[in-house]
Amino acid sequence: MGIYILYVVFEICICIVFKAHAIAPNETEYNEEELINNIFENITAIADSTLILQCPKKSNETEWKLLNDNNTNGKTLQTNSNVLEFRPVSPADKGIYACFTNKTWIVKKYNVTVLERPHFIKKMQKLILKPAGNTVRLNCKAGGIPPPNITWYREDKSPPKRELGDIKTNHWSLTLEDSVLSDKGNYTCVVCNIVGCINFTFVVEVVERYHNTPILTNGLENSTVSVGSNVTLKCESVSDLHPYITWTRFYNDPNNSELLQKSDSGNVGPEVYQLINVTHEDEGWYACFISNSLGTTSSSAYLQVVDEPTIFKEEPPNFFTIGIVAAIGAVVVISVITFMCIHFRQKIKREKREKMIAVETARAAIKTTQWTKKSYY
Ligand SMILES: *[C@@H]1O[C@H](CO)[C@@H](O)[C@H](O)[C@H]1NC(C)=O
Ligand SMILES: *[C@@H]1O[C@H](CO)[C@@H](O)[C@H](O)[C@H]1NC(C)=O
Ligand SMILES: *[C@@H]1O[C@H](CO)[C@@H](O)[C@H](O)[C@H]1NC(C)=O
Ligand SMILES: *[C@@H]1O[C@H](CO)[C@@H](O)[C@H](O)[C@H]1NC(C)=O
Ligand SMILES: *[C@@H]1O[C@H](CO)[C@@H](O)[C@H](O)[C@H]1NC(C)=O
Ligand SMILES: *[C@@H]1O[C@H](CO)[C@@H](O)[C@H](O)[C@H]1NC(C)=O
Ligand SMILES: *[C@@H]1O[C@H](CO)[C@@H](O)[C@H](O)[C@H]1NC(C)=O
Ligand SMILES: *[C@@H]1O[C@H](CO)[C@@H](O)[C@H](O)[C@H]1NC(C)=O
Ligand SMILES: *[C@@H]1O[C@H](CO)[C@@H](O)[C@H](O)[C@H]1NC(C)=O
Ligand SMILES: *[C@@H]1O[C@H](CO)[C@@H](O)[C@H](O)[C@H]1NC(C)=O
Ligand SMILES: *[C@@H]1O[C@H](CO)[C@@H](O)[C@H](O)[C@H]1NC(C)=O
Ligand SMILES: *[C@@H]1O[C@H](CO)[C@@H](O)[C@H](O)[C@H]1NC(C)=O
Repeated sequence: MGIYILYVVFEICICIVFKAHAIAPNETEYNEEELINNIFENITAIADSTLILQCPKKSNETEWKLLNDNNTNGKTLQTNSNVLEFRPVSPADKGIYACFTNKTWIVKKYNVTVLERPHFIKKMQKLILKPAGNTVRLNCKAGGIPPPNITWYREDKSPPKRELGDIKTNHWSLTLEDSVLSDKGNYTCVVCNIVGCINFTFVVEVVERYHNTPILTNGLENSTVSVGSNVTLKCESVSDLHPYITWTRFYNDPNNSELLQKSDSGNVGPEVYQLINVTHEDEGWYACFISNSLGTTSSSAYLQVVDEPTIFKEEPPNFFTIGIVAAIGAVVVISVITFMCIHFRQKIKREKREKMIAVETARAAIKTTQWTKKSYY
């Protein structure tokens, strides 16, 4: 029984050692000739992904360098590691990288090119509301590597067309001058480079002139800010007639309000109200009133002021730590197995000894009886 358990444990030990071998990655070993033929490699990576360069030759003196434009005398980045990692890679990481096995011997050079998917540079507003006759300008300014191109659609048709007038396009923007009601619709920009495409759809509304109270396009929203910050409240509207904007603050009692700002009082703009270095006293309800000769539109929201949040720095999972944990785990497993091996071996020894003792005792007993018998007679 003991021997059988020992055998099983032994099997497990062998199995673990074997598995560990199987998990270890196999090293790609190049010979010298292959190295000379493949000394240069073009690598293309996409920004924000992980890039790992692996030196084909292992050495205890491996050195990674970023070579300058003249391909010589680079800056040393890292020593003693077979791999050079970029987590994540950024467009600024482009360049010629080389790994050296000793101070003078280049094993391999990598020409790293970093591409970037297109992204919009400015936050864009979906609803574009204009009184007839005004100019509508849609802007989809975007960046990316290589620089992306732009295609405009109106309701899935490209190029966009209008019943009256022209459409002007200028690099990132599309302009409709003297807008009319029939220009209403969805206008989409599709921005592409070889990495991918992004798009944005504007909903253009053209409203008739002289028939409306001001129309709010972007009203106030509840917000939470921290003490000491600056806050800009904004009420955007469209109106043909010059709108008159006032900003008011309400206190708990509805009759208790304070006029904060009126149009033409020389402030940043009639559409915004600024609070500098806010304190808890600034918390409360704020409203904007936009009036023209046909009526008034308003918007209000609650501003909450909180203490500076405590920032918890969350450590990203560290590969070093993971390695240590794995190592400790391995040590524990091996210790347990070793302990079991020793324990069972001892148990077997003990059982053997006990058996021997039993046999010896029995033998002795027989001898004794015989001897006793002899002596009696
Ligand atoms: C490991 O070696 C096998 C056979 O030798 C090969 O097919 C495989 O591509 C190698 N893997 C790596 C990561 O080099
Ligand atoms: C690397 O790219 C350059 C320029 O794009 C090209 O001339 C060269 O042949 C490429 N080399 C390899 C090994 O692909
Ligand atoms: C690298 O290994 C060689 C022998 O294999 C030894 O002579 C040399 O001192 C080692 N260099 C370093 C930096 O450990
Ligand atoms: C690189 O080469 C150019 C001429 O080819 C030279 O003007 C420049 O100084 C060199 N730069 C370095 C860092 O050696
Ligand atoms: C560097 O290594 C190469 C090949 O491994 C060898 O020919 C050369 O002499 C070495 N140079 C030095 C300075 O050790
Ligand atoms: C590296 O790659 C870029 C882009 O493909 C190319 O313009 C440049 O000439 C290459 N540099 C060398 C030294 O081959
Ligand atoms: C424009 O897009 C919206 C959704 O974003 C859709 O509800 C509307 O029907 C579209 N208008 C036209 C004229 O296709
Ligand atoms: C824009 O770039 C993409 C990707 O490079 C290409 O497929 C497409 O034909 C280009 N479109 C125009 C209008 O140039
Ligand atoms: C716009 O992007 C969405 C995904 O973000 C995609 O489903 C849609 O097909 C794109 N539209 C066009 C016109 O490219
Ligand atoms: C708030 O605005 C004031 C004056 O414009 C400026 O001095 C201060 O640095 C700003 N504070 C913050 C947190 O932006
Ligand atoms: C903000 O207000 C606090 C308290 O009123 C004051 O101590 C601090 O100096 C102010 N900071 C700025 C940048 O005005
Ligand atoms: C704004 O905040 C007030 C007070 O906290 C709350 O009563 C109201 O429901 C909020 N409105 C929105 C749209 O979240």
